[in-house]
Amino acid sequence: MRYGIIGALDEEIALVKEQMTGVEEHTLYGRSFYTGYIGEKEIVLVCCGVGKVNAALFANAVIREFHAGAVINIGIAGAIGAGISVMDVVLSTEAAFHDQDEIMVKYYPFCRYFKADEKLLALAQRSCESVPLHGKVHCGRIVTGDQFVNDPAVKHGLVERFDPCCTEMEGAGIAHASFVNDTPFLIIRTMSDSADEGADDSYDNFIDVAAHQSAAIVLKMLELAE
Ligand code: ADE
Repeated sequence: MRYGIIGALDEEIALVKEQMTGVEEHTLYGRSFYTGYIGEKEIVLVCCGVGKVNAALFANAVIREFHAGAVINIGIAGAIGAGISVMDVVLSTEAAFHDQDEIMVKYYPFCRYFKADEKLLALAQRSCESVPLHGKVHCGRIVTGDQFVNDPAVKHGLVERFDPCCTEMEGAGIAHASFVNDTPFLIIRTMSDSADEGADDSYDNFIDVAAHQSAAIVLKMLELAE
C-alpha cells in the first residue's frame, strides 16, 4: 500500500522529502507530488498549501491520482486544550471544521466529526514512544478553519463549541476528502503556539522544530508499519 503524506508548508514536508529514495516528481495543479520510498514503504508526498480547500483537493489527488491507501497529514498547530503546550504532539481521534455552520451536517457528506483511523492512531502512538520528543503526546479532537487563531476570545469560543486539543487550517479538509473516498486518515500535529496573543511570535520561533518533530513521527511510523 502507498501512503499519502501531506503537509501545508515546505517546512512541514522537508524532513520526509530529505529521507525519500527513488524519488519521482509529478506536477498536478501546478504543484509537485513526489513518489518514492521511505525504507521499503511506498509513499507519495505533497505540500498542499495552506487552507481547507487546498487540503481537500490535494488529499483527493493523492488518493485518486496517486492511489494512496492511507493519508497522513503532518505539521504544526495552535494548542487549545487544557494542559497542552508548545512542542506537545496531538494525534487526531477525529477532525471537524470550526468555521462551518452546524446546519451543514444535514447535507452531504452528513458528517460533523470525521473519525481518524484507529490502526494509524495506534501506530503513531507506538512511533511517539520511540522518537525523542520535546513535549507530551495527546490524542483527541482537532479543529480546522481558514483562520490563524491568535486571539484569546476566538480560542475561548473554540473551547466552548468543540473542546478541541488544537486548531489548524487543513486537517478536516484532508479528513473530509479521505472520508468520501473511504480511505483511512490520521493527523499528526506538533504545537507551534498556543493560539493566543503570543501566537504570531511563537509560530515564527517554533515552526521549524515543531514541523520537524511531526515529520520524525511519521518517518518512524513508516519504519514500524507492517
Ligand atoms: N497552525 C499553527 N498555529 C496555528 C494557529 N494558531 N491557528 C491556526 N493554524 C495554526
